Amino acid sequence: MKYIERNLILLILLSSVTACSPQPTKEVPQEFKKGQEYFHRVCSNCHGSDAMGANTKAPGLIDTDYIENAFSDDEFRETILNGTDKMPPQKNNVKADEITEIIKYLRYSQKVADLVTEEDMAEEEESEN
Ligand code: HEC
Repeated sequence: MKYIERNLILLILLSSVTACSPQPTKEVPQEFKKGQEYFHRVCSNCHGSDAMGANTKAPGLIDTDYIENAFSDDEFRETILNGTDKMPPQKNNVKADEITEIIKYLRYSQKVADLVTEEDMAEEEESEN
């Protein structure tokens, strides 16, 4: 009986430890898996498991503020390497080619998220009139 109890406690402890690191909830095509993996290693703790930023201090990156014509790949690179006032630099945590993969993964996620931009809204209004 004692053994079973001890194992049960261990099991509960272990599962709460793994629950701490957010897991991806989205399946992505093979070519974006590496980027997703790196994102999880380096960015998820702050930006959320699918870069949605929910319940974290860091902003969600699947957002019209960060799509390609609002926030370029170079701006991503610069932010990741050197951080901002509030985001610590990540240059010691990722290599250049890993950053490239992360950006690819984020661009893919933004695309499939079907974000509505202000331009889209304007177009819609126009077609209504
Ligand atoms: C330790 C927490 C932390 C980690 C790790 C982190 N970020 Fe951030 N990130 C933040 C915070 C906080 C902000 C908001 C910064 C601000 O408002 O200046 C932010 C902002 C950003 C922005 C927006 C910057 C802007 O000018 O609007 C981008 C893009 C970004 N992060 C990408 C990433 C990527 C990609 C990774 C992984 C390589 C990453 N971050 C890792 C905390 C983090």
